[in-house]
Amino acid sequence: MKSTNQSLKPLTTKINDAGNLEIGGCDLISLAEKYGTPLYVLDEETIRNICKDYKNAFKSYPKTKMMYASKALCTMAVSAIAANEGFGFDVVSSGEIYTVYKAGVDMSKVLFNGNNKSFDELTLAIELGVGRISVDNFFELSLLNEIAKSHNKVVDILLRITPGIECHTHEYIQTGHLDSKFGFDLTQIDDAVELILNDYTNLKLHGLHAHIGSQIFETLIYGDEIEILVKELARLDEKFNIKLNEINVGGGLGVKYTNSDVPPSTYEIADIIIKRLKECIEKYGIEPPTLFLEPGRSIISTAGVTLYTLGSSKQVPKGKKYFAVDGGMADNARPSMYRAEYFAQVANKPDYELAQTVTIAGRFCESGDILINNITLPELEEGDILCVYNTGAYNYSMASNYNRVQKPAMVLVNNSQSDIIIKRETLEDLISLDVIPDRLKNK
Ligand code: LLP
Repeated sequence: MKSTNQSLKPLTTKINDAGNLEIGGCDLISLAEKYGTPLYVLDEETIRNICKDYKNAFKSYPKTKMMYASKALCTMAVSAIAANEGFGFDVVSSGEIYTVYKAGVDMSKVLFNGNNKSFDELTLAIELGVGRISVDNFFELSLLNEIAKSHNKVVDILLRITPGIECHTHEYIQTGHLDSKFGFDLTQIDDAVELILNDYTNLKLHGLHAHIGSQIFETLIYGDEIEILVKELARLDEKFNIKLNEINVGGGLGVKYTNSDVPPSTYEIADIIIKRLKECIEKYGIEPPTLFLEPGRSIISTAGVTLYTLGSSKQVPKGKKYFAVDGGMADNARPSMYRAEYFAQVANKPDYELAQTVTIAGRFCESGDILINNITLPELEEGDILCVYNTGAYNYSMASNYNRVQKPAMVLVNNSQSDIIIKRETLEDLISLDVIPDRLKNK
């Protein structure tokens, strides 16, 4: 069965009677006029649909818990939607903890990840009642135990492990040892467990956590990951006589950025995971554990598009034809950082004949700020509105103020209604944290 992450565009995308693209019943040209560009647009129906795809796909294993990986896009409105769909949250900073807390999320359904959580962040997590902390290394075990002790609390933890599976998006390899910055090596788990059982009495271990990569198209890798986790639970029970009953397989399911991308569906992933989990429960003789998943990109990417206004253009003699937009690497770092590819259409000319191959350049001051290399579009003119698809994940969340440009606004669309969920930054916002020491002020 198909799932929403396999769609190139938000599910509600269509061409309306005015001949423009619309999403969530909202004309994109009207949105651009009303809110300005660049503008992030997020389709609520698409988010809710993929949440339902995940829940339906895993319903034959009722002990599944879905955690939205906030790092893909963390805003209070998005948190409220994910919570309303019954999701918990994977958070990785005090900023993400605070955002979900302020959005009214049940903090017992929040899991705190990260390879270098600070004293202040761990303290905040404990004080706000974060449900699980996935401890990444020996330093953190000791630090967290101290903080928990000083709060007179026993903190519920998982251990983040490096399962020895390396994922290269479309294929993967298994190695004995991985030089990953995240998690305990398989050979270090016993030492960690011994410390928890004997010394760190303010920590309560519930299970193991792994994450094998992102934008994954490979399905079998999840089965291998399950086997490693379950085998470890059984081994630890045998060795230490502890019944760990939680495994967390992380996130990673891919999305369709361009027509040539064919990500698997949530249903295919669920089949692989559940089948292998049931086999492993038999094989290793353990009680069925709670299964955590932490999807980020696949929940939010497809729902998002970015609208830009076309400005200057340039034909390099015997070279490329460039059109520049009013945003770029500061609102979408992925093309310049990862050579990520995106698909786009002109929102006011969605059904015009495709006439030319052009390169879409960003407005930021460096040559690498190219949003889309070689895309075929209709005849273009200044003022056209470009709609870049699949920008919901890792765009706003990785945005910067490079060149001191204000970050764009974000609107949520649904049933012909549009609501601002992140305001556009103003020039005053940009300087609001600046301080000029008195000695530098002109007298
Ligand atoms: N859980 C853990 C422990 C993670 O490290 C990540 C992502 C996720 C869950 C969510 O993975 P997802 O379902 O979103 O693939 N900035 C990069 C992606 C970095 C992903 C880091 N970890 C990009 O723009 O492609």
